[in-house]
Amino acid sequence: MEIITTPSEMQRWSRAHRSGAGRVGFVPTMGALHEGHLHLMRTAREHASAVAASIFVNPLQFNRRDDFDTYPRPMDDDLALCESVGIDAVYAPTAATMYPEGFETHVEPGSLGDPMEGAMRPGHFRGVTTVVTKLFNAVQPDVALFGQKDYQQLAVIRRMTIDLDMGIEIIGVPTVREPDGLALSSRNRRLTPEDRAAAVAVPVALTAALRAYRAGEASGRTLEQCATEILAAEPRARVEYVQVFDANTLVSIDRVDRPSVIAAAVWFGDVRLIDNMLLD
Ligand code: PAF
Repeated sequence: MEIITTPSEMQRWSRAHRSGAGRVGFVPTMGALHEGHLHLMRTAREHASAVAASIFVNPLQFNRRDDFDTYPRPMDDDLALCESVGIDAVYAPTAATMYPEGFETHVEPGSLGDPMEGAMRPGHFRGVTTVVTKLFNAVQPDVALFGQKDYQQLAVIRRMTIDLDMGIEIIGVPTVREPDGLALSSRNRRLTPEDRAAAVAVPVALTAALRAYRAGEASGRTLEQCATEILAAEPRARVEYVQVFDANTLVSIDRVDRPSVIAAAVWFGDVRLIDNMLLD
């Protein structure tokens, strides 16, 4: 496995692997890897002859300094995990390489970046679209894989690759969960044992809404209320939002009469978790 730290080296690697019938797959990450990332990496292998992953904690997408500072960075463990799933190259640039003095160009997301995470974390998606564009330009993948846990991020990136004619196939991969249903997230490791136990309320609440929908409830507000009531019964949870929205436009909807999603952002102590389920 090669470890690459500059865009020019990364581009060279990619050019070498894309020659002939080669197809480059790419899994961008911020490190602190867990089984969800490894699942993305293994899935990437099914779609590509060479797979690169990136590890870069992107300062541009954090709207809170403390969240950026405390974001876990177990680089040696991460590299070993990449190796264990057969990653061919890890792109791990420094912040100074990504954003050298004088850096001033950003990629502005459209309206898909406005609600939910965009409303709660101003500037977040502008940071994501900017870094993902830079990572795509360095890695030059044919196909890139993102987790559906970050549903809105996946939608914003899909839109961006279409709007900017990037010619990269974007694959969304279903969320990997703990046995009790908690969605895997790098932030889970910052939960106290008590908050970890309480955090199961998130998938329980979303599953209750999904069951209510499958039982015939089609009111978006009622489904949100169903999930909110379960979260409200967990004293350690502080709900930021619970929202039912159109799976394509991400607009909040009153009636679930099209492909839709229910998503939530919930705090446990100083850790903010997000999760979602498709209302299928
Ligand atoms: O989902 C993430 O880990 C990050 O938002 C990403 C896509 C790697 C960009 O920094």
